[in-house]
Amino acid sequence: MHARTIASIAAVAGAAVIGYASVIERNWFALREQEVPVLPPGAEPLRVLHISDLHLTPGRHRLMAFVRSLAALQPDLVVNTGDSIASAEAIGPLLDSLGSLLDIPGVFVYGSNDLYSPKPGNPARYLWRTSAGDHDRNEPDLPWEKLGGELTAAGWLDLNNQRGKLTVNGLDIALAGVHDPHADRARYDLIAGPADPAATLRLGVLHSPEPEVMDRFAADGYDLLLAGHTHGGQLRVPGYGALVTNCGIDRGRVSGLSMHPQVSPADGKTAWLHVSAGLGTSPWAPARFACRPEATLLTLTARSA
Ligand SMILES: [Fe+2]
Repeated sequence: MHARTIASIAAVAGAAVIGYASVIERNWFALREQEVPVLPPGAEPLRVLHISDLHLTPGRHRLMAFVRSLAALQPDLVVNTGDSIASAEAIGPLLDSLGSLLDIPGVFVYGSNDLYSPKPGNPARYLWRTSAGDHDRNEPDLPWEKLGGELTAAGWLDLNNQRGKLTVNGLDIALAGVHDPHADRARYDLIAGPADPAATLRLGVLHSPEPEVMDRFAADGYDLLLAGHTHGGQLRVPGYGALVTNCGIDRGRVSGLSMHPQVSPADGKTAWLHVSAGLGTSPWAPARFACRPEATLLTLTARSA
């Protein structure tokens, strides 16, 4: 075949893939359902909606409609693991989208992108380094305190370097979270110490699933860790999976349910880890491939005795 013909075919195919990834798959939202046998024997199931990485801008109407539709699930608890906004104008649309989910018990942490507005850059740089050094501006330029204030005013619990307690459906939940390790704002020492052994569930929440931070949660006895940040790899290779995780976690745990290997000295148990592949993208890398945007409904069930 003539070289020019081959080049033309490759160009058309490339354009088709880019169009699919940025127009179709980026808006092809999925609800993933996952059971986690993490509660004590005999406990009633608890339904947890895990959302992450919306990177919301006011123009993302399909994303907002999907988030709005999640209220129909009527979960018992909502966990938002950060990177909610990508624009100073997104807080109102975010609150509108969450709608009646804000009337349900909820918790949140920030991701670095809640603090720093997105900047253009070569997405391929993640192949050889993470984005941890990308947020080296002196002061955040997004209204992250307003975001947190609005979510707190609506009744959700701020877990940024804080511990908390909730009683949901009669189950006592001990919670702790950190601000984003990826932005060097995690201060685990502020929440360190054994998780309440009397609680039915001990839940740890963080944006970027950095192993050294998760080691500490697990060692303190947290049963289940929820994180986001990875976007599931965002552009995955079919049959191979994620090329990068953009953090310290291995590619095999870039999204979905796994175990974190650190053992708690208190009870000898390891922690479950759920990483959300997230719902959005940076406005400067508006594409997802073989990695649909997702929210997850986790049904926590009793362990077998
Ligand atoms: Fe993100």
